[in-house]
Amino acid sequence: MNQYFFALGTNHSLSKIDIINTLLRKGVDFEILEASEEILIISTSSELSPALLINELGSAVKIGKIEKVYLKDENWEDFFDKELGNQKFGFSLYHAGGRYREIDEIFEKTKKLKKIREKGRILSSVTVDQSGLLKKPASTSTREARRGGGFELVICVGAKGVYFGKTLAVQDYESYSRRDYGRPSRDAQSGMIPPKLAKMMINLAGRGKDELLLDPFCGCGTILQELTLLGYKNIMGADIEDRAVTDSQKNLDWLFETFKLEKADFKINIFKSDARALSAKISQNSVNAIVTEPYLGSSQARYLSLDQIKKEIQKLEDLYLAVFGEFKKVLKDSGRVVIIFPVFRYKAQFFKLQILDILKNQGYKQAGFLAKKVKGEELLKLQITDRKSIIYFRPGQSVSREIFVFENTSWRVNYLTKNIT
Ligand SMILES: C[S@@+](CC[C@H](N)C(=O)[O-])C[C@H]1O[C@@H](n2cnc3c(N)ncnc32)[C@H](O)[C@@H]1O
Repeated sequence: MNQYFFALGTNHSLSKIDIINTLLRKGVDFEILEASEEILIISTSSELSPALLINELGSAVKIGKIEKVYLKDENWEDFFDKELGNQKFGFSLYHAGGRYREIDEIFEKTKKLKKIREKGRILSSVTVDQSGLLKKPASTSTREARRGGGFELVICVGAKGVYFGKTLAVQDYESYSRRDYGRPSRDAQSGMIPPKLAKMMINLAGRGKDELLLDPFCGCGTILQELTLLGYKNIMGADIEDRAVTDSQKNLDWLFETFKLEKADFKINIFKSDARALSAKISQNSVNAIVTEPYLGSSQARYLSLDQIKKEIQKLEDLYLAVFGEFKKVLKDSGRVVIIFPVFRYKAQFFKLQILDILKNQGYKQAGFLAKKVKGEELLKLQITDRKSIIYFRPGQSVSREIFVFENTSWRVNYLTKNIT
């Protein structure tokens, strides 16, 4: 059996779901051993390829292998002398569901070790990378190895025991930053979805790489970019603004050049359209999934009065209902919609779009976030709201994102017939 740890991104629920669904899609047989808001530990019968896997995931910060586990009553203290000797290493200590008192003890006891560490318990992926902790030493002789790249020792304090592991891959923070801040066109005014969130939403759609995916509110093309990098070959983007269409095209040209992708391998169509009239431009029953962050309301939301917020919500409910009506026409049966709804905050109150009952009557079923049941699922403690959504919140933002997954079913209530009878 192999055991791996995944250091989670800031939204631990989305991060866990993303990892689990990706492993399921790859046919990995696994069980969840420990989970917290910081770490997920699994056991698998097969070896994983962390360096490849981390690029498919939207939010895992590090992936590593557990090398030694000390169960509850075993003494782990000799690990440092016996296993590490004088080696150079980085050090991170994670809460994996165990007791905080134990974490404090380990933190104190490891202070004296010769190692690279930051003030807190956890080394950032930037430090792990820039300190050369992932580079393999040139020679395999022990002395050389000690002088060589070193490693990051990761200790996870779980409910069942203490896990000692080594990091094998960290997220490509440079690439994420380049495709967010380094692309030619950005549109902070209308708002841009963070690339990592875009990737997790694409993964939630769970579609094959040759299926048709659409973003009908493409803005400057973040979701289109991430679809391309994940290897989706058949992509459509649309926006009501000419500028968004040209921005998306420019950004994709830049992406193809920067990431050395072959244009001929992809079929990408970006055009101008009001999402409320999508079906005039897209064939009926042709789209496998829609992944989108629509217009989320006024960029001045933080200055709105309560009354103005209520009016804004009503306008957005009308927009969303109109576009879901169009989605129905272009989506295939069982096609998915992975979509963001805005959540407004006024003082301590939250205001959400109230359209779920109508969508249900239109034949949209809310899908679960996990593709199927997994062993140890009860340890996950996913933060899913009563209305089966996940809130993605960033400090300082007055409008939060609420993420939903819907499935198109052919069933729908026929109001006309109902009214006549
Ligand atoms: C929040 S932005 C999308 C951001 C995009 N995900 C990105 O990262 O660049 C919303 C976009 O919706 C577009 N939009 C607003 N109303 C629309 C409509 N009725 N139909 C299509 N696009 C619309 C705006 O022009 C804007 O580009």
